[in-house]
Amino acid sequence: MRRAVFYNPAMALDRDLSVAVARAWSDRTGRRLRAWEMLSATGVRGLRVLNESGALDALLLTEANPEACRWLERNAAPHPAATVRSADARELPPGSPFDVVDLDPYGTPAPFLPTAIAATAPGGLLAVTATDMPVLAGVQRTACEARYGAVPLHGHFGPEGGLRILIAHALGAAARMGRSARPVLAYVHDHHVRAYLALDREARPAEVSRLPGPGWAGPALGEGPYGPMWVGPLFDAGFLRELRAPAGAARPREVAALLDRFREESGADTPFYFEPNRIAGALGLSEPPGLAPLLARLRELGHAAARSHVRPSAFRTTASEAVVFDVARELVARRFSSSPVR
Ligand SMILES: C[S@@+](CC[C@H](N)C(=O)[O-])C[C@H]1O[C@@H](n2cnc3c(N)ncnc32)[C@H](O)[C@@H]1O
Repeated sequence: MRRAVFYNPAMALDRDLSVAVARAWSDRTGRRLRAWEMLSATGVRGLRVLNESGALDALLLTEANPEACRWLERNAAPHPAATVRSADARELPPGSPFDVVDLDPYGTPAPFLPTAIAATAPGGLLAVTATDMPVLAGVQRTACEARYGAVPLHGHFGPEGGLRILIAHALGAAARMGRSARPVLAYVHDHHVRAYLALDREARPAEVSRLPGPGWAGPALGEGPYGPMWVGPLFDAGFLRELRAPAGAARPREVAALLDRFREESGADTPFYFEPNRIAGALGLSEPPGLAPLLARLRELGHAAARSHVRPSAFRTTASEAVVFDVARELVARRFSSSPVR
């Protein structure tokens, strides 16, 4: 059977973000970067970053599929800064390490992570995508345990749980190589998760644990324990301030809106989230509390609170579930006491 060459238009927004991140990372480091796209397919992602970010000095593109590789050669030919290598991406290529490494597989990135980490310079940036969401988000729990060594959350928390499992897994692979890393931007989008990991210059302990652990006061996750998963921040707020929607973005309005949401979210960057309709369900309220009044009241009480990109009505907060529930009850009761009697 002939295998199709991979080009996925649904990832256009994701590639827009790759351009924005490369630009901001180059600004942060104060120099142009050398990059490796490990799994290039037609090269659309790496070549867009090269052309649109102005951040790269050199780009290595590897691809193992011969048919994809022919397209890759053709697409890269007009760009002197791009080099194509027809090879297995699990081999460390000549020229390693790189300032930026991009790992964007079909399915799981796990088999490629040791090479990706070895190929990323200290102080460099490693971008990792996973599209095996049935595994990471708990539909295939046994596969998640085998592939990532982690118990996944299932249901509405599944995608964020999957993102946090992926990050913990990548950090575990880094630790085994005497390296450490932290996310500067990590998100759930459509049917994949993606994390941009800053590879540290010095080893430091990772914020990885099983949830809900002792003292967990956040949203009820179920019995668990789930994970191990990353429980630290998904965003580096300073880095987010430097991100701009690229001038040539395929989805300019969506990218700008997503960046705004990330910035808001970074103000209350806690694991997992609440949703007004689920709060109403848990408390037996006759209607959900409004999202805006909930956020406002939590902030009045001194807690950080912000909408999340993960789901349209989701919000994160530093308040405990008990406080969130009290505020929700108060707001719904107040709404009823101020409605006219009919
Ligand atoms: C999801 S696609 C990459 C998409 C691309 N990054 C983009 O943004 O359009 C994954 C690619 O990895 C290639 N691939 C799979 N295993 C590989 C390996 N071991 N070495 C190199 N390429 C590989 C596949 O042929 C496929 O083209």
